[in-house]
Amino acid sequence: MVEYFNIIQALCRSALSNPNDAVIHQITRLKNSLEKDGYYKEAKSLEGLISSSHGSVDMSPSKVEKSFVVGAGEELTFKTPIPVDKETSTPLAEVFFSSDLPDDMPSFDENIQLAIQSVVNEWAKFDKLLEINATPASSCLIYGLPGTGKTHLAKWISKQIGIPVVLARLEGLMSSFLGTTSRNIGNLFAFANRYKCVLLLDEFDAIAKLRNDPQEVGEVKRVVNTLLQSLDSRHEKGFTIGVTNHQGLLDPAIWRRFDIQIEIPKPSPEVMMLLLRKFLLPLEFNDSEIKFLAWCLENSSGADAETLSKWLKRAFVLEREINLVSVMKQFALLNSGRVDADKRNVMIHSDEDFITMLVNAKNYSFKQKDIAPLFGMTPSSLSKQLSKFKES
Ligand SMILES: Nc1ncnc2c1ncn2[C@@H]1O[C@H](COP(=O)(O)OP(=O)(O)O)[C@@H](O)[C@H]1O
Ligand SMILES: [Mg+2]
Repeated sequence: MVEYFNIIQALCRSALSNPNDAVIHQITRLKNSLEKDGYYKEAKSLEGLISSSHGSVDMSPSKVEKSFVVGAGEELTFKTPIPVDKETSTPLAEVFFSSDLPDDMPSFDENIQLAIQSVVNEWAKFDKLLEINATPASSCLIYGLPGTGKTHLAKWISKQIGIPVVLARLEGLMSSFLGTTSRNIGNLFAFANRYKCVLLLDEFDAIAKLRNDPQEVGEVKRVVNTLLQSLDSRHEKGFTIGVTNHQGLLDPAIWRRFDIQIEIPKPSPEVMMLLLRKFLLPLEFNDSEIKFLAWCLENSSGADAETLSKWLKRAFVLEREINLVSVMKQFALLNSGRVDADKRNVMIHSDEDFITMLVNAKNYSFKQKDIAPLFGMTPSSLSKQLSKFKES
């Protein structure tokens, strides 16, 4: 046995270059048996191989065994130089490694969560799908209103795939010299195509703004063509995610370049409640308080929920006790863009109308016992008030 050990060792090393749980388990078994039979030196050497492969397991994709992205391309590291705009020296992209990416999937309604999960599954099994000619998707456009969690989602998807993200804000690639813009786009894609990464094109709509300049029609066409060609070049190289707030502005030719399109809606009341609970931690509120806050933020975004939560935390620290209604009124006054205009008007001007609006809110089914404590009343005094409102 020991005379073949160098062959065994080589076998283990090559198996561990692409490690999985089964490989590690079997090599650990071998190591333990060697140790038991007194081959301490050999056991130690296998132990070394296993532990050094653990380091590389952490760095390498967790969910993808082997795919065109993972198999091909150079490894991105903290030291990899990032291309810059020649005129201004600003980097054309930012690289996020696994440890910089969010662990939690943003909260959406179930059907969207499932659709997103199917993209992740498809990307994780890319190679197997290729083998059976299933032409898997390799690009995805995420669109929806600002603050709905699109950038967060794109980063989370990349984390699931297990490779770093090259994030480029299209705005940052655009130079006042259109020739430079084309060159920047070319350089960015050349960089992304060279390394194993997900290319994340954030605020993709910036490119569409170019079209409005009538003086530069020819040059603008060139920029858009460069982008189209670059997107085509990505198909054999790696995954691409585009993110945009203004899907209407995008050229139909650009739309067609993306295999999958996901629309992210504003949070539903249920999702809004979930987000508020999450963002408010460590503060905790009861169900009717959370429902009240969600109602106030109806038609607002997840980012607005995050802002309101910070606001409430600040109030809690400064005042120790929170009167939700008065904090909410203050928030509505000073964050006019974050609260629905009709609600804001009612909140600010009349408690009477505010309460009536709450009682009649569709989809929330507030009970008088939910609302009364918020306004510092007992349910029965609220009930009296309500009948008085009706009379007047
Ligand atoms: N549905 C959501 N689930 C979790 N967090 C969200 C959600 N929507 C917004 N956020 C939070 O709001 C902030 C802005 O989100 P971001 O992804 O930048 O939005 P977008 O790119 O759509 O403008 C982030 O901190 C994000 O975590
Ligand atoms: Mg964004």
